[in-house]
Formats: sequence, structure tokens, C-alpha cells
Amino acid sequence: MKLGVCYYPEHWPEQRWGEDARLMHTAGLSLVRIGEFAWGLIEPAEGHYEWDWLDRAFETLAAEGLRIILGTPTAAPPAWLTHSYPDVLPVDEAGRRRKAGTRRHYCFNSPDYLALSKNIVSGLAKRFGSHPSLHAWQIDNEFGSHQTTRCYCNNCTRDFRSWLQQKYETLEKLNQSWGTVFWSQLYSSWEQIELPNLTLAQPNPSHWLDYARFASDSVTAFQQMQIDILQTHSPGVPVTHNVIPNLSDINLHQLARKLDRASCSVYPTGLLETSADRFYVPGEEQPVFAYDAGDPVLTGFNLELVQGLKQAPFTIMEQQCGQVNWSRFNTGIRPGTPRLWTLHALSAGADEVLYFRWRAGLSGDEQHHSGLLRHDGSPDVGFQDLLKLQQDLPLLQQICTEPQVVETALILDYEDLWALGKQPHHEYYSTFRLLFCWYRAFQQAGIPCAILPPHADLSPLKLAILPTTWIGKPDLAARLEQYVQHGGTLLMGLRSGFKTTTNTVNPYPLPGVFRKLLNIHVSDWHALPPGQRHEIKSDIPDLAGQAAVWIESLKPDSPQTLVHATWNSGPFSGSAALTEYPSGTGQTFYMGWFPSADQARSLVHYLAGKAGITSLHALPDGVLVSRFGEHSIYLNFSDSVQTISVDGETCALPARDYALLEHKS
Ligand code: GAL
Ligand code: ZN
Repeated sequence: MKLGVCYYPEHWPEQRWGEDARLMHTAGLSLVRIGEFAWGLIEPAEGHYEWDWLDRAFETLAAEGLRIILGTPTAAPPAWLTHSYPDVLPVDEAGRRRKAGTRRHYCFNSPDYLALSKNIVSGLAKRFGSHPSLHAWQIDNEFGSHQTTRCYCNNCTRDFRSWLQQKYETLEKLNQSWGTVFWSQLYSSWEQIELPNLTLAQPNPSHWLDYARFASDSVTAFQQMQIDILQTHSPGVPVTHNVIPNLSDINLHQLARKLDRASCSVYPTGLLETSADRFYVPGEEQPVFAYDAGDPVLTGFNLELVQGLKQAPFTIMEQQCGQVNWSRFNTGIRPGTPRLWTLHALSAGADEVLYFRWRAGLSGDEQHHSGLLRHDGSPDVGFQDLLKLQQDLPLLQQICTEPQVVETALILDYEDLWALGKQPHHEYYSTFRLLFCWYRAFQQAGIPCAILPPHADLSPLKLAILPTTWIGKPDLAARLEQYVQHGGTLLMGLRSGFKTTTNTVNPYPLPGVFRKLLNIHVSDWHALPPGQRHEIKSDIPDLAGQAAVWIESLKPDSPQTLVHATWNSGPFSGSAALTEYPSGTGQTFYMGWFPSADQARSLVHYLAGKAGITSLHALPDGVLVSRFGEHSIYLNFSDSVQTISVDGETCALPARDYALLEHKS
């Protein structure tokens, strides 16, 4: 594992750079990311480049043996640029042209911005592309942050129309696919099609989903423009982009496809409050964790999602190492917590971790943000932890080269996320909430669980869960069929197959294209108001209880379909709620309600047993596990000692610390 740091040499007097580089080296760091916001210094006026300062920064860092990750600076258009080319500035959903003065103020479809970005990226790639200390490229910075994926300007309108023409070829086909007969939305020329903002009522869902796809594709195309330049002038140097893991408006699976490596930012306390609202059902009991550690289940979910992007070791390009400044309460961080976060990163499959940032900044928006060093240059908590971490690393490094054991996975499809996010029909019903509920259940059962794209190879998995697969894609149905035929255990959840790929409703009984696979049909469904619950009885241990949010009535299609849970009250009383169908050497399950955390946990135990997943043990709240070869790493995010029992033995896990256990079997 390599450790590193994000550094802004341009924020500090040049006389200090040498000392910073020496200190980084002493602290055991070997990677340093620079440059991602430095456009204004590199190109202070259009076409006029000043490379010397960056050359010297490179040499100073390289002299200490540091390897450099160089950011292309397109996340921060300089003031001269937006002043000379005002149509670079994006237009938000409310139709407001946004101002310059911070960062990310550009539209992905502005021809001027594309041309200017090509120039700066080509310049950088030619200048540093074959530098012996160049470790990797980072393109831009956190696409989509500050809600910048979706722009509603005239350039986007023009490009959206071409995107639609390419996709549908004729307006007849578009009208048909979108069902524009509804409310007289029929189009007779491409110019009549607008972007779906500022409408009086909700726009046509098909129109909206295509716009969401187009906006995500625009980001991927902007990234591809940069990848092409970097590959030409800097061949062989890996290219990455630091994603925000649970960002919902970019298809991160597509974005990652053309990258050599996945990388991300991890801010456990920063994401805490914003994410909790998106991932837990309101009123749901949340896990216990130390006040400055952040919710480990949320952090774990994010890490797992990034691991799934390329299913390969990844980089944490920005690892929180002290307090952030952009949260609601900005908790101070105690010694021990940055070390715990680093261990979490390592056990989740990251093999490069760079802390954000080297030294707390004196100017700009992030004055309250911490670094490894304080504002005055003295070591802060993160730096102290880094020194302590040196003792843990050799053993952990060795263990983490053993293959990671993951036999279960959740499947995430961004198109479902978008479609369902627009028409949830019940405020609590969301793709992320469902995926997260299952992820948490797997963690509590001590079973590592991947989060994979729909195109992932499912064959190594013993158990796959698709908690809600709204859009019924026939090719996915065929692949799932294969998976089960060859011994896989599959669970699909509510609303599966409800939509067509153009986001109209499938006209056949649910679960539509998945019906043959599951051998049931959904005869009725209800969304339930908050507080309303209906009883389920079940032969699966601990599953009986109440269902909230959403319920479905299931009818077996075949005598082989087994019923594991039945409605015991409410409108569907007596009909099936959970079924199983044996198929090939595997089996499919269909679950017709939105599970609670306890119900998901009970089902995880049951399904894991069925699928032959061993080493089950219930973990206390606040403890996470990952498994490498014969070893498991247990991390305790709580403020108290936790006891775990594994293979019949108990082990005390110190507060905010870890334990490494070897399996006997
Ligand atoms: C990240 C961003 C960094 C910095 C950091 C502060 O999201 O990429 O540039 O702003 O947050 O926590
Ligand atoms: Zn735009």
C-alpha cells in the first residue's frame, strides 16, 4: 500500500517546498497529488503559459523520491476565461446562469470550454507526460460536485437534440418511445424538443430519463476528450478521476470504464449528515459509532461502490485526516480516527491512500479545513496517526495481497436510480436506501458484500441481490437466468420489471421480463403511508413481522414455486409475499415488500445458508469485516470494546481499532 497526500505548492512560498517534501518523505509518504486547481497560474492569460514554477515544484518533490499524480486543472476555469467566454458558465435547473468565483463553473458541452480545455491538457501532457516521477494523471476533480452534472444552457439544448437524433433517428420513433401522445407532447421537429426543466408539472419521464442519460454521457465525453490527449502525449501513464462515491447523477460505471484505475474521495464525517437522509428510511435505527468516526456502514458502502467500478485495487485520492469545513457540524477529529479510516480503506481494497490535504490553507473557502499539518505548519492529528500507522502497515500489506473473498454482491444500475428517483411514488422508496439496507444486513452478518454494475461477471458469486430492478432489460434477465442455471442464488425485490428501457410502463404483468425467471406474477401492489404496516408470517427464522412502505401480492406461476412468507393482514391477506423457485442448480427468490433492517438481516442469514456461504457470525453494531484469503480484518468504529466470536472463540476488539484473525478452516 502506498500512502500520499494532496499538496498545493502554489499556496505556499517556494522556500517552504523543500521542507514540505522532506517532511512528507519522513512521514512515509510516497505519492503526492498536485495541480488540479492551478489553471490560472499555469495559463495566466489565454495562450500564455508559465511552466517554470510547476517544473520547480515537480523537481523539489521528485528530489525526495515522491511520485506525482498530476491533476488536469479543468475543475477551476480561471477568471480571464469565463470573462472572455461567458457562455462557458453553466445554467442551473432554475434557468439561472451561474457565476464564476468558486470552481466547477463550466458546462460540459460548451465548445469554447472544450477547446480551451484541450489546450491546457495538451500543454500539460506534453510538458510532464514523460517525466520519470509522474505516477498517474487525475482528470479534472470530482465531476458533478456542487451539483454540476446537469446544465440547462443553449449548448446543452443543441447537443441534447443531436443525442436524441442519434438514438432515435426519426421523430416517429421518439414519439412512440416516449409516449408523447400524453398531454399533446407530440414532436414534429427536433427543434421543438427542450430540456426538461422549468416545466409547470413533472416532465415526461421518458424525456427526463434521456436527459439524465445525456447529461451523464456529456461528462463521460468530456473525460474521454482528456483521456485521448493524455494517452497520446503520455503513453503508459495510468489515468484516473476522483469520483464522489455515492453521487447519483453520473453513471460511474460508464465513467470508470475508460479509466485505468478507479479513485475517490472519502470524507466520513463530511458525508455523514447529507448521506444519512439519503440512505436510511426516516425513523430507522442507525448504527452506533464514535462521534468523530462517521457512520462506518455509510463509509463502507461508498468504498465498496468504488471497488465495484473496476473490481480492482483503487486509489483513495482524498482521505479525510482531520476536520472538514463543509459539513453541518464539522466535528473535531481525535487521535486514532485517521488511522482507523486508513485501515478501513486498505481492508476495502484500496492500495493507494492520499490524505487531503498536506497543510491547512490560509485563504479561500476551505480555511477551516484541516490537513496533516496545522495552519502554522505543526503536525496535526493526521500526521501523528500516520507515524503510528507505520507499525501496522507491513503485516496488513502482506495480508491484503491475499485474494479478497467476496461471494455475495448487490447490483446497482444507475438508470434505475435515475428513473426511480424521479417517480418514487413513495417518498421513502429509493434505490440507494434499498441497496444500503441490504449492504448493512450483510455487514451485520459478517459477510463481505460487493456492489457491482449490472454488466459484471456474476459467475464467481454464490448470492446476488437486486433489491429493485425497475427497468426490465431483456439482456439482464437472460444473464440472470444463466447465473441461476449454473448454481447461483438470486433475490430480486419489489417493482422489478415495472419499466421499459425508455421509461414507459411495461404492459405485461410484473415482474415483466423477469417473470419467467422468478415464476410468479404480482397481482397487486400498494404504497403505504408512514406508520401503516401489515403483518407477514414466514417459515424463515425471524422474518415474520410487519411490512411498511410498500407491499405486493404475489401469485405463484408454477407448482414448483415455494412460498416462504404470506400476508397475514391488510388488503393482500392470504397471498404470497416471498417466493422461491428452484432453477437449474440454483434458485431465485422474489420479495414483495420493502424490507426493514431486521428483515434484511434475517434473510441474509437464510440466503447465505442456502447458498453455502460459510463463516457466519453476527457482528455488533459499529464493527465491519473484510476477508482476505484465510484472514479477516475486523474494524471497531465504536468508542467501546466490542466482543466478536469467530469459529467458536471470542476476541475483544479495542475501541476505534482493529483485529486481524486467521480462520481455522
Ligand atoms: C473535496 C474536493 C477537494 C476539497 C475537499 C475538502 O470534495 O475534491 O478539492 O474541496 O473536498 O474536503
Ligand atoms: Zn450547458
